[in-house]
Amino acid sequence: MEKVVSGIRPTGYLHLGNYFGAVKSFIEMQDKYDCMFFIADWHSLTTRPKPEDIQDSARIILAEYLACGIDPQKAPIYVQSDVKETLELYLYLNMNAYIGELGRVTTFKEKARQQPDNVNAGLFTYPTLMAADILQHRAKKVPVGKDQEQNMEMARKCASRFNRIYGVDFFPEPQNFYFNSQALKVPGLDGSGKMGKSTGNCIYLHDDDKTISKKVMKAVTDGGPEKANSEKPEVIENLFTFLRICSTQDTYDYFDEKWNDCSIRYGDLKKQIAADICATVAPIREQINEYISNKELLDKIAKEGADRARESASVTLKEVRRIIGFRS
Ligand code: TRP
Repeated sequence: MEKVVSGIRPTGYLHLGNYFGAVKSFIEMQDKYDCMFFIADWHSLTTRPKPEDIQDSARIILAEYLACGIDPQKAPIYVQSDVKETLELYLYLNMNAYIGELGRVTTFKEKARQQPDNVNAGLFTYPTLMAADILQHRAKKVPVGKDQEQNMEMARKCASRFNRIYGVDFFPEPQNFYFNSQALKVPGLDGSGKMGKSTGNCIYLHDDDKTISKKVMKAVTDGGPEKANSEKPEVIENLFTFLRICSTQDTYDYFDEKWNDCSIRYGDLKKQIAADICATVAPIREQINEYISNKELLDKIAKEGADRARESASVTLKEVRRIIGFRS
């Protein structure tokens, strides 16, 4: 089975957009590939999180992914900082990465603009750490979002350059693996195209029913259809997308008909959407809470994940040391 690796930055709670996008794809992939997922807590240091937050944020993410259905037996989940092999490979890769190419990475330039008084070397070498994450497992496929294109390009360069310098065919060039077409784009509640945490238009997987209902009832609408069978404007199409994602076909058809004959009442539509989102989120939320309250279990899963990751990485590193000329 082909190896797949992906990292998750611990930047906050998962929302419905994450769930129907990346997370669902991960869950599908765990049956088809030899997957490993990890929580990129070293990467998060580029923005100096508080020491007391580091372990908690990793545990929360772990709980959320498990609650969504990642099965650690099929796809180990580990915390990046538990696998020290990564650092050794990071060093080797940095020796062959050029200042010019790293400086051209857009995400670096953006970050440098955002935090001008902390343009640190970790930020600069973010792509080589990411390459080490991937190459240590000699992974062939990496599920990532579009924004990771340049980092993936650097990972491929790291792999092919290493092979060229040492005259070996050791590292496969990892390919971006875009979530399959089933990955649904979840719209925002404020009429914007996409649910995203920066815009404050999200429903989080840990939101309770009341919070969800409140958020849905506030969703942006328009003045209503003016003539029968008209096209839906974007804000309304967005609401129907929620029906498509969380409701039954019958429910969708019911409101679609009401739209078409101009008898639709947005209040009713929203109530339905809220109820169906709650039904989707509630079991996940309960699982999240259960995992969160079971710190021992979370730590055990993370430890087992780390053991498996270390096993895979140490085989690679042993060979890398030999290729470079060190004692292996
Ligand atoms: N840079 C990725 C992001 O921001 C997270 C990440 C770190 C990652 N290391 C990785 C993703 C390795 C895939 C593989 O989303």
